[in-house]
Amino acid sequence: MAWKLAFDIFVTVYENESELEETALSLLQAARQATQTAYAPYSNFYVGAAVLLDDGTVVKGSNQENAAYPSGLCAERTAIFAAGANHQHQKVKMIAVTAKRKEETFFITANPCGSCRQVLAEYQQKQGTPIQVIMEGGQGKVYVCNSIDMLLPMKFTSLDL
Ligand code: THU
Repeated sequence: MAWKLAFDIFVTVYENESELEETALSLLQAARQATQTAYAPYSNFYVGAAVLLDDGTVVKGSNQENAAYPSGLCAERTAIFAAGANHQHQKVKMIAVTAKRKEETFFITANPCGSCRQVLAEYQQKQGTPIQVIMEGGQGKVYVCNSIDMLLPMKFTSLDL
């Protein structure tokens, strides 16, 4: 007899960034700053990410595009790979992600793509502790997930190999 497997996905919605705790807000601000380094001449869509490590280090990343489109990389992966490469033994506590369009001054919804979710899941699995995700929600809203599990249920990890 077939049955349904259900998942509880919890996302905390902050109507205004001023309701965020200080660490999350300053990480989101770092992500917003990082949009300034985006290299996005093809999409004109500037994404910024900031990763907070256990020792308090913040590593920023932005999307880096390429004329051969698939060769480019998203902001989230640019940031977390830089953290892995330069701070190998530090756990990742939190990642903040934001986006804006060229010529516009306001920030818009930033949902990490599937590949970035998969990469974040790998780091979370490796370190054995949850990575919190702070996402720009648009119109002043901010979304917070306490684990990558909320963004990627039934994920493929090394445990499946
Ligand atoms: N992009 C990111 O940086 N992160 C995501 O999670 C989604 C998409 C970038 C890739 C590309 O440079 C641009 O946004 C448009 O897809």
